[in-house]
Amino acid sequence: MSVNPAPEYVLGHSDRELLRLEQQAAFFSDATSDVLTRCGLARGQKVLDLGCGVGDVSSIAAELVGETGRVVGIDISPDAIALASARLKALGKAQASFKVSSIEAYDGYAGFDAVIGRFILVHNAEPRDLIRPLLAKLRPGAIVSFIEMDMSSAAAVPPLPLLGRCVGWIVEAYRRAGRNSDTGSSLYAIFRDCGLEPKLAGYTRIAGSGELAGIGFVVESLRSLTPLIVKLGVATAEEIGIETLGQRLLAEAGDGGHCVFYPRLVGAWATVGSPKG
Ligand SMILES: C[S@@+](CC[C@H](N)C(=O)[O-])C[C@H]1O[C@@H](n2cnc3c(N)ncnc32)[C@H](O)[C@@H]1O
Repeated sequence: MSVNPAPEYVLGHSDRELLRLEQQAAFFSDATSDVLTRCGLARGQKVLDLGCGVGDVSSIAAELVGETGRVVGIDISPDAIALASARLKALGKAQASFKVSSIEAYDGYAGFDAVIGRFILVHNAEPRDLIRPLLAKLRPGAIVSFIEMDMSSAAAVPPLPLLGRCVGWIVEAYRRAGRNSDTGSSLYAIFRDCGLEPKLAGYTRIAGSGELAGIGFVVESLRSLTPLIVKLGVATAEEIGIETLGQRLLAEAGDGGHCVFYPRLVGAWATVGSPKG
């Protein structure tokens, strides 16, 4: 049987990127819990987490399905899978297990009550080509739930020009790599094109410009993306100046009392076999 290869993954799998995933997950855990609850995850279910990274979404799902349920996380990165396994074991969540596999090559879809994924469709040039084959393998009534962000919506108010340039570099790198940096607000169309009528939820987090968390989110995202940004000619490493970027952003904000809005998150969910329209 021929299997589609996994597409090139733009963020890489360095130790620092795995740490960034963990930090990013902390910002978005409330919204993720809300989507997973509203999409219908419940005690005793079997849930598959696509592109599970270091296990944060799986961990939330494991809470919801409880000890009688089961969560399986899959990811192409062996390092991410090893870390996810160790973290959930340390949390005593024995209902979660992890496996190195691409989404495309995984062959166990039929046994799950729900398939979930966060920040994974964005890494596919055509998310519909990832979802349609899944739908064919899932049982009728199974839940499909994805969470994505709109990167271009990250902004400071009043505007901070350097922060705006950082967001612009990220968005342009994704665009040149053939990825949609605003996959969040595309979820509605993606689901409908796959024959699903989704329910939707949107979330925006906010931090003060004096808090390192908001600025750190941008800096660490850029750190992981710098090789791609430079390779695609979006900006030079000198322009980005990653080692001093955080201090320069904080200096730009000064004591101006700016609000930093994180990228908007969108959750979309539906059940297989639910009519569209
Ligand atoms: C941005 S991270 C998100 C991780 C996790 N879902 C979260 O929200 O914390 C995307 C993850 O998807 C994995 N990934 C990318 N393409 C994949 C594919 N085709 N099959 C399986 N995993 C993939 C990457 O290795 C990475 O760990």
